[in-house]
Amino acid sequence: MKLDNTFLWGGATAANQIEGAYLADGKGLNIADVERVANDKHIRKVDSKPLKDIYYPSHEGIDFYHHYKEDIKLFAEMGFKCYRMSISWARIFPNGDELEPNIAGLEFYDKIFKELKRYNIEPVVTLSHYETPLNLVQKYGSWRNEKLIEFFLRYCRVVFERYDKYVSYWVTFNEINEILNQNEPYHQAGILFNDNENRFKTKILVSHNMMVASAKAVKLGHEINPNNKIGCMVQWPLTYTATCRPKDMLARQKFMKNDFYYTDVMCRGYYSNVCRSIWKEENLTFDFKKEDLYALKTGTVDFISFSYYFSSVVKMNSKDKVEKLDGNPYVKKTSWGWDIDPIGLRLSLNQLYDRYQLPLFIVENGLGAIDKKDESGDINDDYRIQFLNDHIKEMMKAIIEDQVKVIGYTSWGPIDLVSVGTGEMKKRYGFIYVDKENDGTGSLKRKRKKSFYWYKNVIKTNGESI
Ligand code: BG6
Repeated sequence: MKLDNTFLWGGATAANQIEGAYLADGKGLNIADVERVANDKHIRKVDSKPLKDIYYPSHEGIDFYHHYKEDIKLFAEMGFKCYRMSISWARIFPNGDELEPNIAGLEFYDKIFKELKRYNIEPVVTLSHYETPLNLVQKYGSWRNEKLIEFFLRYCRVVFERYDKYVSYWVTFNEINEILNQNEPYHQAGILFNDNENRFKTKILVSHNMMVASAKAVKLGHEINPNNKIGCMVQWPLTYTATCRPKDMLARQKFMKNDFYYTDVMCRGYYSNVCRSIWKEENLTFDFKKEDLYALKTGTVDFISFSYYFSSVVKMNSKDKVEKLDGNPYVKKTSWGWDIDPIGLRLSLNQLYDRYQLPLFIVENGLGAIDKKDESGDINDDYRIQFLNDHIKEMMKAIIEDQVKVIGYTSWGPIDLVSVGTGEMKKRYGFIYVDKENDGTGSLKRKRKKSFYWYKNVIKTNGESI
C-alpha cells in the first residue's frame, strides 16, 4: 500500500502549547496563560491573572518562539510536507478588541511562514486553538457575547490578508464539538459557568456564535482568496454499543448527536433534525437571527479536519440514560486511560465521509506516553511507533480500499509539548524529545527519538514502509 505524492504528511501543534514567550513583543494574555499544571486525577486550576510564584506551563512552553528555526529544520529533516500550527490570537490582538493589530506579533509569524517555505512545508493554520484572549473572556463573557464574532473576523481578515502568499489551508476552531461534550468548555470557548447559569443554554448560544463566526470566516477567506481551503475541526469520538441490544444502539445514536450537531451545521449549513432533537430533549427552542442562519448557509466548510485519539463504548442503563463504559474489553489502553483503537480511525473516516462527502484531514492522532532514556541516552519509543503504525495502516485502508478522500495526516505533537488536559510535559507525543519536566526545569535541548527515523521513512515511502 502506498499513497500518492500529493498526500500531506506532517505534524500538528498549537501556539499555547509550544511557543512560550507569553508576553514577548506585545503579546496579551490568553486563557492558557492562567492555567496551572495538574495531573490525570485533578483538573487544571484557572486563575484570573498570573500569580507570583505559581508555575504556568504556557509561559515558556517549549520555547518554540526562540527555537523555531531548529524545530522547523527537524520537521524538514523528517520530510514534513505540511505543518499544522496555530496563530496565537493574543499576539495579533493582545486584548482581542483593539482596532489595529500588533505588528511585532504579525512579524513573528512572517518569520515562521518564511522558514516553512524554505523547506517547502505547507502550513495548515488553526485560527483559534484553545487560546482566546483573556480580556475577551473577562470583559465580554467570552463567546456568550456575539461581539466576539466581530473581533474574531477582524483578526481573521488581518491574518488572511497578511499571510495570503504563504497559507492556503485554514482551520477555524479547534475541537469545537467539545463544547457540548465537556462539563465546562474553558479551552474550547473560554467558558467557566456562573452559579445558576443554565449550562445547556449557554453551550448552545456559545456554539451558535462560534459557528456563525466560523461560517463568516470561511466566506471572508474565500473572498480574500478563492483558493483558500477552510475547514472545521472536531474531535471524533467513534462510539461502539456495549451489546447488540437495540436500546444500546439507541444510546450510541444519542451519544454521537453532540458531535454531529457541529458537523451538520458547519458542513450542511443549517441546524439539522439531529440538532433540533438535542434542543427538544431539554425542552428548549432557539430562534436564531435570520442573518445568522444566512451566514451559516453561505459559509459551509471546504473540508473536515478532526482529531482521533480513542474510541468509546456506551450502553443504555436501567434508567434509560446513556452511560459511557470504562473502556472496551477488546482493546488496550494508554497510560492515561485512553482506548487504543486503530480500526476506529478507519471507521471514523468512513462515517464522516459517508455523511458529508467532503475531503477529510486527520489533524491530530498520537500517543501520549512517558519516555525513558536508555543507558546511552537514547529514546527507543517502540510503543509510539506501534501506535502510529497501526493507525496509519487503517487510514491507508480507508483511503485505498474504502475510497475515502483524505487530504493529509498530521500526528499530534511531533515535538514534545505541554499537555492540554493536565499541563504536564511528561505526557509526551513527540518524535523529538524536549528536555523539560513538569515543574518547568530542563535545558530545553532537543533530541531525535527512534520514532523520528521511523516517521521519516513513512513519509519518504508515502506509507509503503508501514
Ligand atoms: C486535543 C487538542 O484535544 O488533544 C490538543 O486539540 C491536545 O491541543 C491533544 O494537546 C491531546 O490532549 P492532551 O491532554 O494529551 O494534551
